[in-house]
Amino acid sequence: MLRLQLFTYLLIVSAYKWPSPQLDALEAVRFDQNGHNAGQIAGFVQPCSKFFLGGIERTGRSNVGDWLRTAFHEMATYNISDGTGGMDASIRFAEEQVRPENAGDAFPNTIGLLFGVTNRYVSMADSLVLGPIIAIENCGGPEIEFHGGRVDADKANKPGVPQPGQDLKAHIASFARQGFSQTEMISLVACGHTFGGVQHETFPNIVPELNDPNNTASVAHFDSTFAKFDNTIAVEYVSGTIKDPMVVGFNDTTNSDRRIFGSDGNATMRAFAKSPEHFQSTCADMLARMFDTVPRGVQLTHSITPLPVKPHNIQLTLDANTLRLSGEVRFWNMTENTKRKVLLRWDDHAGGMHHTTLGFAGLSTAVAGRYSAAWYSFNTPETPFQALDPTAGITRLRFVVDGRTEDQHGVGFAVQDNVVFSTSSCATTQNPFAGHLDVAVRNERQPKRVYLEQETVDSVQRITIQETDISSPAHRHGASANASSPYSIWSIDLVDAQKFVAYTIGLELEDGKKFSTNDQHRLVDFPLCAT
Ligand code: HEM
Ligand SMILES: *[C@@H]1O[C@H](CO)[C@@H](O)[C@H](O)[C@H]1NC(C)=O
Ligand SMILES: *[C@@H]1O[C@H](CO)[C@@H](O)[C@H](O)[C@H]1NC(C)=O
Ligand SMILES: *[C@@H]1O[C@H](CO)[C@@H](O)[C@H](O)[C@H]1NC(C)=O
Ligand SMILES: *[C@@H]1O[C@H](CO)[C@@H](O)[C@H](O)[C@H]1NC(C)=O
Ligand SMILES: *[C@@H]1O[C@H](CO)[C@@H](O)[C@H](O)[C@H]1NC(C)=O
Ligand SMILES: *[C@@H]1O[C@H](CO)[C@@H](O)[C@H](O)[C@H]1NC(C)=O
Repeated sequence: MLRLQLFTYLLIVSAYKWPSPQLDALEAVRFDQNGHNAGQIAGFVQPCSKFFLGGIERTGRSNVGDWLRTAFHEMATYNISDGTGGMDASIRFAEEQVRPENAGDAFPNTIGLLFGVTNRYVSMADSLVLGPIIAIENCGGPEIEFHGGRVDADKANKPGVPQPGQDLKAHIASFARQGFSQTEMISLVACGHTFGGVQHETFPNIVPELNDPNNTASVAHFDSTFAKFDNTIAVEYVSGTIKDPMVVGFNDTTNSDRRIFGSDGNATMRAFAKSPEHFQSTCADMLARMFDTVPRGVQLTHSITPLPVKPHNIQLTLDANTLRLSGEVRFWNMTENTKRKVLLRWDDHAGGMHHTTLGFAGLSTAVAGRYSAAWYSFNTPETPFQALDPTAGITRLRFVVDGRTEDQHGVGFAVQDNVVFSTSSCATTQNPFAGHLDVAVRNERQPKRVYLEQETVDSVQRITIQETDISSPAHRHGASANASSPYSIWSIDLVDAQKFVAYTIGLELEDGKKFSTNDQHRLVDFPLCAT
């Protein structure tokens, strides 16, 4: 209980400064769970017993179970002596999936669902942790502290996942190699086996065909609440009513849960049975450690906590003599209130200050409705963007909520206007798609190199950024620059472009530092070029 309160406290006090592209992206996946601007993960576990396979709904199995089991099999290759293995998404490789220790289709299923969450800032390995964390807290379990920054491996790890047919000594040794004591092993297995069960199809020697119309996946559940993260596994074990097929299975060789749970004379399981709070807080600690077991040398971020005030999808575009600003802001721990007055204020390069009233855009929630956030938009249907003078530009945003200024203790929310897309971008042909993208670069801060960035995957499915240089105006043909404009237009012709690929702009400064814009644009967003 104390531990849970402590974490709630951490959620309030520690945060980072916006913008920080990686932390912003990790925070969004972690906390924008349902409603306005929600990510996908929470939707995959509503209800918690949800399970689809090849588009067909199956009963008796669940996504939450698959995701937590996948995370354990990822971690269980870790060797604490040499720092190899652990959470690095190596389970995506066929070489690992065909091993007997990784029997079943849970791993490709999990990767198939969670791959959609990955991007340049959220690795596959981070997604494989965010999935179970969000599933657990939305399915009766505790909030688990999350750190990002896992690095996806480029090859399979060595084998090392424990199997039900091994003896207790082998399991103790296996968990010790992973970095967990015998007591911690008991805890981890109980925290894992609160979800799901054993499938007949994968383990016919442990589970017979069930022929239950309410359990078409034929899964013998570890406890009677297979889609709820609770201490029922321990309550039923201690009371002797348990049906876990690895405690009371007909073949004692594969009753590894019985051997593990009983290995300390039932002390750990009795404590779990007695106190739901103790179960939840121990699992929160143990699973956080499991998720943070990464190959040596990988540096995880600090704990990802919700930003109290967070600008979202800030876009600047140059339209001839106007700089168009659009975006939203999220206020954490806020519900809708029609009387609330929210202002956007922004500063420009000339020392000017401007403001406009923002409109309510929607609510989002997280952790089964425990938190809510209110979103406000800079734009309305009547005013689709704020029109800024390009010479004055923009430096930072501040917000005023019912008279209280929110500006990260005075520093504001920095917005860059050095490079922005120009609305002179256009498509020349639509099939195949071709055209040119124009990027406006502020004259007083000319960089060494400007390039388009496009997310792509390398030969082992890791997200990488492909860079394509954009020509500076000197090398450009046929463009008429406005001599008094603070921007010059850099341009790139796209031939055979993919219609829906989103590009961001990258720039390299004279000192070699690289920088990426937040704005994403697709060629299809721009009109056909005038002929
Ligand atoms: C000695 C250690 C362990 C052994 C031998 C073991 C074995 C198994 C087996 C045989 C299954 C059935 C899989 C299937 O039919 O698809 C299973 C399921 C599962 N295991 Fe474990 N396990 C161990 C530890 C853990 C740990 C530490 C966790 C997580 C913290 C975990 C999480 C799960 C989950 C969530 C499922 C349910 C999967 C589903 O319903 O789709 N297991 N385990
Ligand atoms: C773990 O690493 C140590 C040190 O390199 C090595 O001696 C040991 O064999 C490894 N264990 C396994 C199971 O690979
Ligand atoms: C299946 O579930 C329904 C609804 O919960 C229940 O009424 C029925 O008895 C169950 N059937 C079996 C075979 O367990
Ligand atoms: C029990 O399980 C072990 C390990 O899977 C297997 O070798 C053995 O044949 C099984 N025994 C029976 C009676 O099914
Ligand atoms: C531990 O609990 C199991 C299951 O309830 C029981 O069969 C076993 O006898 C207990 N062991 C001890 C030492 O109490
Ligand atoms: C959330 O907002 C309410 C009402 O404004 C306040 O009482 C509460 O302390 C806030 N909680 C957190 C975690 O910030
Ligand atoms: C050129 O840009 C300046 C500054 O943005 C603007 O005031 C002026 O009207 C523009 N001239 C033309 C011909 O577009």
